[in-house]
Amino acid sequence: MLTRRYSVDPTERLRRLRRTKTLRRMVQESSLSTNDFIYPVFVQEGRGRRDPIGAMPGQYRLSVDQLSAEVEQLSTLGVPAVLLFGIAAYKDARASYATQRDGVVPQAIRAIKAVNPDLVVMTDVCVCAYTQHGHCGILREDGYVDNDASLEVLAEMALAHAEAGADVVAPSAMMDGQVAAIRERLDEEGFTETAIMAYSAKYASAFYGPFREAADSAPQFGDRRSYQMDPPNAREAVREVLADVQQGADIVMVKPGLAYLDVVRLVREAVDLPLAVYNVSGEYSMLKAAAERGWIDERAVGLEMLTAFRRAGADLIITYLAKEAAEWLKDS
Ligand code: PBG
Repeated sequence: MLTRRYSVDPTERLRRLRRTKTLRRMVQESSLSTNDFIYPVFVQEGRGRRDPIGAMPGQYRLSVDQLSAEVEQLSTLGVPAVLLFGIAAYKDARASYATQRDGVVPQAIRAIKAVNPDLVVMTDVCVCAYTQHGHCGILREDGYVDNDASLEVLAEMALAHAEAGADVVAPSAMMDGQVAAIRERLDEEGFTETAIMAYSAKYASAFYGPFREAADSAPQFGDRRSYQMDPPNAREAVREVLADVQQGADIVMVKPGLAYLDVVRLVREAVDLPLAVYNVSGEYSMLKAAAERGWIDERAVGLEMLTAFRRAGADLIITYLAKEAAEWLKDS
């Protein structure tokens, strides 16, 4: 039987380098490593508490005494960093628990550093979990989030974390000038070596749903659209990032990840700083839910997703999958 032959330009024979696993490995353009991961950890007051987060199977709200086991596990896996989120013991209009020197986040930082001083401790700096209204800043009488009044609280909160030994503070309130305010305060107090990872391009996204259950931080009225970015905008993300760089950010971030890979690429092209992407709660929940039903292969999809962040240009990936992915990478 005669097979019909079409002509293929020899320079267009792209399959040659896909033929074997080793060839593919050699021409791979991006790579994924456990070194890139930052693992979010929710901490709460109390003892012996390990409360599962409903929409995030495998994630817990931990009391401080549970952290040493967590740290040991992360260290064994080679995950280099955690990002701490505090759950407030009490909430008020001024987020006073957020700046308390013996609050749950400072306690957690000290506990982690006592077990492994090499584990990089990053902390989320935002007041949404600490105010009764659940907004990321301090409110004016008319209910609008007061930008400049919020800066003071954010700077004080960052200072409390730096004093407890945080390596990196990560402002996520999306107040204008938050990086400058924090940098100034830290420097004045002698914390010139504490780094800032700015949640620079943080969108008003519905993908944060499960997190708000975890941190008990859902806004009690309205939404976050007057401070977080509008999802249709991409150029504005570059402006946000450049402003943070100008103000002294050491690492910039795009958040969420999956639906914003174009923004990751744009930011990558605009700045030389390390770039982090946040693989947020809703992205994790979608993966878990579909995998639970047997609809997708969790490991394969998880690794593909994490690789996509790297391909888009992210250096660091904040992900709830960090531990599982570290295991997957060990035997891949
Ligand atoms: C605090 C904060 C949020 C997240 C990280 N820091 C919630 C929000 O802005 O509503 C979301 C993280 C996630 O969804 O995994 N402002």
